Amino acid sequence: MAILKIARMGHPVLQRVAEPVDDPTAPEIRRLLDDMLETMRDAEGMGIAAPQVHIPLRVVIFVTPLIGTEDADPDEYVLTEIINPVITTLDDDMAEGWEGCLSVPGLKGLVSRYRHVHYSGLDPQGEPIERTAKSIHARVVQHECDHLDGLLYPYRLKDMNKLIFDSEYRHHTVTQRPTKTAEAEDNA
Ligand code: NI
Repeated sequence: MAILKIARMGHPVLQRVAEPVDDPTAPEIRRLLDDMLETMRDAEGMGIAAPQVHIPLRVVIFVTPLIGTEDADPDEYVLTEIINPVITTLDDDMAEGWEGCLSVPGLKGLVSRYRHVHYSGLDPQGEPIERTAKSIHARVVQHECDHLDGLLYPYRLKDMNKLIFDSEYRHHTVTQRPTKTAEAEDNA
């Protein structure tokens, strides 16, 4: 495994639509997934998308509790590796939450996301993944899949006053709790 260089906001690889993967079981995809995991752990993120390591393919990984998925333990953090993911929204309900991104280091932003989504795709064995997701699980999968379409969370901000440095975020959360519906997310 190898720690890969993470592309930062402004790099063209983060602004393009990533290509679908033809063969999720190909050895180079396995290697990419392993390198993405090592890179994500080194950077202390909870998710990463292939374009963030300069590979414009539709591959994402994240580690979250699988909230909203049937039979999932809401307290267990699970690694998801998903290839060619597709998200569909299940209703119009949205929630605000603070997000960070490994490609936008040092900042946090308050972003509105769908609360309840379905996503599908393939695992590295080529088997289908079909899940519903809520809460932080839904937020992370939306954030990661945005990377595959050239979108970073700052593009989704409604209020630029809610794009703040990490140091201000810590201050903010101590002195002025985010709204009840807001949920913090680590770097993704
Ligand atoms: Ni990100």
